[in-house]
Amino acid sequence: MSLVSGVRIFGKKIYTYAQVKSTNKIACQLAEQGAEEGTLVVSEEQIEGEGRAGHYWFSPQGGLWLSLILRPPTSFCVSRLSILGAIGIARSVRKMFSLLSPRIRWPNDAIINGKKVGGVLCKARSIRKRVIFVIMGIGVNINIEEFPSPLCFTATSLKREIGHSVSNEIFQECLLEELERLYFSSQNDFSSILEEARGFSSLLGKQVGVQTREGEFLGVVQGIDEEGGLILRLESGMQKRISSEEVYIK
Ligand code: BTN
Repeated sequence: MSLVSGVRIFGKKIYTYAQVKSTNKIACQLAEQGAEEGTLVVSEEQIEGEGRAGHYWFSPQGGLWLSLILRPPTSFCVSRLSILGAIGIARSVRKMFSLLSPRIRWPNDAIINGKKVGGVLCKARSIRKRVIFVIMGIGVNINIEEFPSPLCFTATSLKREIGHSVSNEIFQECLLEELERLYFSSQNDFSSILEEARGFSSLLGKQVGVQTREGEFLGVVQGIDEEGGLILRLESGMQKRISSEEVYIK
């Protein structure tokens, strides 16, 4: 429920499809045509699902593939949205399945028992550095039973983790509620969201290698800053801030 008016905004208008190339693409077209904030695009299957860094996102029937149109205030830092999306997934998993311990692998992977169960891909449209809209694309492996190689080593689904089918509709409802709450509360106070992200983090204190456009950096993860950047302590002792674009964690 929106903290602003008491009326749900996320998913007030929903476009549902059996199969699309990518819900992000459709949401982008709708946003260009003026669709309202909170408009949702959901498809049972995607044949050209987009993952981060141009990767293909495996999106067969059984998963939850959705894109949300957001029109954040100009002061809102877009890189925070990936973190919000990942927290939304983690909160929903924890709320629906108290036995599972979801984690977040910065900036946008939702993890269960070391394997990826969901991800977030945010795309912003800006004119002269002013954000006009953001598409928050979220994929959650709900009832997927088998993953092709090499995904089978790194991905999991809710069904695989809890041993029975899960209702996509109920998970979607829970996720939208959590995302809306996070989105509006974060506009007044992002620090408590960051605290929550740190609590869910699977990387804090760990040694990681991060590949960026500037090269590879090795270091220990110290935290996440106000803009959603990852803070590393390099072997030299220096701190390095990594922004969420173009990052691959080894
Ligand atoms: C990632 O690489 O972790 C991000 C994956 C995001 C996938 C979702 S599924 C719904 C939406 N439509 C897409 O084409 N991608 C996102």
